[in-house]
Amino acid sequence: MSSAATVTETNFTDLKLLHRGKVRDVYEIDEDRLLLVATDRLSAFDCILPTPIENKGRVLTQISAFWFDKLKDVCDNHLITADFTKMPAAVQAHAELAGRSMLVKRTEVLPVECVVRGYLEGSGWKDYKATGWTSGHSLPPGLKHCDRLLEPLFTPATKAASGHDENISGLDFAKIVGNKVAAYLKSTSLELYRRAAEYALTKGIIIADTKFEFGRDRRGNILLIDEILTPDSSRFWQRDKYEPGHAQPSFDKQFVREYLETLDWDKTPPAPPLPPEIAAATSDRYLEAYRLLTGRGLNS
Ligand SMILES: Nc1ncnc2c1ncn2[C@@H]1O[C@H](COP(=O)(O)OP(=O)(O)OP(=O)(O)O)[C@@H](O)[C@H]1O
Ligand SMILES: [Mg+2]
Repeated sequence: MSSAATVTETNFTDLKLLHRGKVRDVYEIDEDRLLLVATDRLSAFDCILPTPIENKGRVLTQISAFWFDKLKDVCDNHLITADFTKMPAAVQAHAELAGRSMLVKRTEVLPVECVVRGYLEGSGWKDYKATGWTSGHSLPPGLKHCDRLLEPLFTPATKAASGHDENISGLDFAKIVGNKVAAYLKSTSLELYRRAAEYALTKGIIIADTKFEFGRDRRGNILLIDEILTPDSSRFWQRDKYEPGHAQPSFDKQFVREYLETLDWDKTPPAPPLPPEIAAATSDRYLEAYRLLTGRGLNS
């Protein structure tokens, strides 16, 4: 199969669009099922870039599908199928959806983000520098930027309507979802991260941190939902280039960020287009992440 054309946005009159995120378009199939479509949109510095990244949507979908299968013994998840030939006819009618779509069980999304951090970066690093603590965990003194933590930490956040999620304490987390569910989400998230990070490391990728979402199906079961353990929901670093003491280059967005930093752009929309060679190098990075993690090419 040759690489399919890029998809920046989907618009189908015969499918009901429920939501358009920065990267994904979500359709309603029926009352029990949704279709999550990963487009080739790329966001950097929280802005969507006008230049699509070839293969990105298919890589994100296939990485998620890979992990849902690999980690299915840890907890139940929402994936029905990512195999296009097994999707409803109304979906198969749109060939551009092949490879980039997941048919999933529809849930009521729990209004929390289950973040796990194995390394000190992002808001974890910021809080530690200011206070020596991060999300209620006291850390030893003298840690460097991007240092590996002794134990991965569960640092939940709210899904803020404003777009910027806020870290919350374990107590507030339990108030939102209830004590029993809180304990389950925490232990499950830590186990998912531990398993995935250990595996990825053997393939040359450090998963520095990640975010999981969970939802409740109609019968009340809690399912792992959304995308999981992709470069969009996690920080991926190259194991062989890892060096604490400074920020690590992002596995997937390194070239984009470096390029954008050379411009006189104030990082508010509209974002500038990317030169073809930067877009191509970025596409290669996504394919490389998929190849490293799964041991196969996208089309093999
Ligand atoms: N099984 C599911 N049932 C119900 N909703 C789901 C399910 N899986 C994922 N979702 C929701 O689908 C949406 C996917 O949207 P998406 O992540 O693309 O955009 P977003 O979260 O609004 O913004 P961002 O681009 O910042 O991620 C999310 O709101 C997610 O919670
Ligand atoms: Mg999202």
